[in-house]
Amino acid sequence: MPEQKALYLTEKFGAFSMGTAPIYKPGPEEVLVRVEAAGLNPADWIVQSYGVIVEEYPVILGIDIAGTIVGLGEGVTRFKKGDRILTGGKIGQSDHGGFQQYMLAYDFATAKIPDEMSFDEAATLTVALCAAMVALYHDGVDAIGGTCGLTLPWEGRGRGKYQGEPVLVLGGAGSVGQAAIQLLKLSGFSPIITTSSLQNADWLKQLGATHIIDRKLPSEAIGAEIRRITSKSFTTVFDAAGLPETQNFGYDLLASGGTMAAVRPDAVQPEKKVEDKKSFFMFGGVSLPQNRKLGTSFFSKLTEMLERGDIKPNRIEVVPNGLEGIVPALGKLKAGVSCVKLVAHPQETV
Ligand SMILES: NC(=O)c1ccc[n+]([C@@H]2O[C@H](COP(=O)([O-])OP(=O)(O)OC[C@H]3O[C@@H](n4cnc5c(N)ncnc54)[C@H](OP(=O)(O)O)[C@@H]3O)[C@@H](O)[C@H]2O)c1
Repeated sequence: MPEQKALYLTEKFGAFSMGTAPIYKPGPEEVLVRVEAAGLNPADWIVQSYGVIVEEYPVILGIDIAGTIVGLGEGVTRFKKGDRILTGGKIGQSDHGGFQQYMLAYDFATAKIPDEMSFDEAATLTVALCAAMVALYHDGVDAIGGTCGLTLPWEGRGRGKYQGEPVLVLGGAGSVGQAAIQLLKLSGFSPIITTSSLQNADWLKQLGATHIIDRKLPSEAIGAEIRRITSKSFTTVFDAAGLPETQNFGYDLLASGGTMAAVRPDAVQPEKKVEDKKSFFMFGGVSLPQNRKLGTSFFSKLTEMLERGDIKPNRIEVVPNGLEGIVPALGKLKAGVSCVKLVAHPQETV
């Protein structure tokens, strides 16, 4: 059986170690992908440091992937061999992990990338977009955590529907924050107010944010800035930082009937919670059955959105030394990056 190089997390709280894995055979509705670029996500170091999410070890992680289709399972009609695509991995399932040279992916959660988009750029997008998309647009049926329940902007007349409604994105400079800003722009929200380090302001304006407030200001000063921009309270708040302080801050600004989505477990103080203001922790895994219908719709339109420039990739920093380079790069990600995605090249593994 042909083999490939793979990066394993050997055990719970364990170390990463290079090894080999078989080159998989795609099953029904799966594609085999030659991984050209694998984006790094906080989840990759969170699994190692906190021993959460994954139960079976050794495991191959990696959930943000761009590459070339080299094999097609039964029933796959949207793709052919040689297509350049982006897709997501399934955390905890090694054959669907991106930290190896070849992986399996679900065809419904895969989209072609435009000719002018690099693999590196494409590898910045899937996880962030799915997290934001599921939180903002899930129809609510079996939704994990909750949903803001907004109308899809990529279908029917959903685009621009929320014109004139303000929205707040806390932590806009992260990958997920950038994705949320761009989707909310498609939905028509205005103003789109975000908090970020100010060196990222120009970039976030290019993505659609209308107002950038220095995230390092005291919360009272951030609140005062927001009040200067709009006197309306928010029906939708997206907390892409997910820290206890950002969640509690965002919750206070919600209108009656409003909803706040957060990227980390709900940390709103229980005494603050009221019946008519919702907050929830989203789980953006698009391969989960509950998210599949939405994911199918989104990935079927994603290529067009990328071609039109509706969705732009994050800025990239390439990690040297192929798969082995991922280990120190995860340390760097854990220490904190600003407005950039770290991207590894599994094919460059020596
Ligand atoms: N639940 C899910 O499905 C899901 C999916 C993906 C990610 N996540 C989680 O979402 C979080 C963000 O992920 P990511 O990929 O976007 O991370 P990232 O790109 O590494 O985020 C880095 C950004 O966080 C910003 N930041 C840090 N502290 C902040 C604060 N107090 N206020 C505002 N911004 C702050 C920084 O902003 P500046 O550069 O402006 O300083 C930086 O740009 C992580 O905790 C991740 O685990 C959850």
